This record gives sequence, C-alpha cells and structure tokens, in this order.
Amino acid sequence: MKKDIRPEQCSVTLTEMLKKGILLNTKRGDKFNSMVIGWGNIGTLWGKSVFTVYVRDSRFTKEMIDDTEWFTISCPIEKIDPLIQKVCGSKSGRDIDKVKEAGLTLEEPRTGTVPGIKEYPITLECRIVYRQKQELDLIPGEVINRMYMPDETGFRDMHTMYIGEIKDAYIIE
Ligand SMILES: Cc1cc2nc3c(=O)[nH]c(=O)nc-3n(C[C@H](O)[C@H](O)[C@H](O)COP(=O)(O)O)c2cc1C
Repeated sequence: MKKDIRPEQCSVTLTEMLKKGILLNTKRGDKFNSMVIGWGNIGTLWGKSVFTVYVRDSRFTKEMIDDTEWFTISCPIEKIDPLIQKVCGSKSGRDIDKVKEAGLTLEEPRTGTVPGIKEYPITLECRIVYRQKQELDLIPGEVINRMYMPDETGFRDMHTMYIGEIKDAYIIE
C-alpha cells in the first residue's frame, strides 16, 4: 500500500538522512539498480517541486540515468540498513545484482517507470526536467583539489546534476 505525502512533509527527513546516504534508483529495460547518494536537494524550480541529484561519470547509475527520463528516491524513515548501505554504496550494478545482494524488495511505481524499495519506504518518483555536467572552470579551486583531481590517466570523475520533477510522493506501508 502507498500512503500519499506532500514532498514538503518529508523534506526534513530527506535532508537529515542524506547525511547518512539515501538511495537513487534507476531502471533500464529489466535492469534495476540502486546507488547510495549523499548529495541532493529537495526544493522548487520553475514552479515545480523538484529533487536534484549529482552523479559521477564513473557510476553505473550514470549510464542508466542517461538512458531514462525517470528516477526514484528511496529514504528510510529512521534508520539506515547497513547491508543496503554497503552493497549500494560501494558495489557497482555493472558487476552485481543489487536487488539480490542487498535483499531489496521492489515496489511497483505508480506514475513513472522506476520501482521504489519497501525497506526504504519514503518514495519520490521523479521525471528529469534538466541535466547539466558540472563545468570545471566554475568550480572553486579548493573543491577541485579535494574532489576532482585527475587520476593517472588524466580522467576527472566529474558530477552531472539531474533535476527531477517530483511527480509522485508516498510512503510504502
Ligand atoms: C554515504 C555515501 C554517499 C554517496 N554519495 C554519492 C553521490 O551523491 N553521488 C555519487 O555519484 N556517488 C555517491 N556515492 C558513491 C556511490 O554510491 C557508489 O560509488 C556506488 O557503488 C555506485 O554504484 P553504481 O556503480 O551501481 O552506480 C556515495 C557513497 C556513499 C557510501
């Protein structure tokens, strides 16, 4: 069962839980994947309720999200699950099936194409309305030094921002 909520109602929980890590879910064909995110914002753009995420180029999620219009956000109400955090925050969906390895129970979406997760019941179904790769020139030097130094091959693992309009919001019961 899904209990309707207004996005504003869960903004404090989402913001608090982001400090520990919540889930960004994507789906391409039959492949579902879930990644822990610590960066994100809930807010308003163009008069729409939105949730914004930041995904590095190296993530499997990057490939998935570039091929889809939709993502879902899944957030626990109180506590994070250590196994979910470990699997979804350190393993790549390229190599494993995170649904199986993390013991995720998927909940069919109501509006978009990407399921939610029963274990993390606060669910936002988001449709991407804007995407933008971060520009190196516009990032403060101290942030570049901390986060975006090139590796030995010269590759800088930059973030792309995806702004999703929150088309549906509910708690899975
Ligand atoms: C607490 C925490 C927060 C994270 N936040 C982000 C984030 O905001 N953006 C990002 O690209 N990766 C973030 N990561 C890293 C990804 O979760 C991790 O690399 C994951 O294994 C990627 O999975 P994928 O390759 O299946 O997409 C975070 C990891 C942790 C543990």
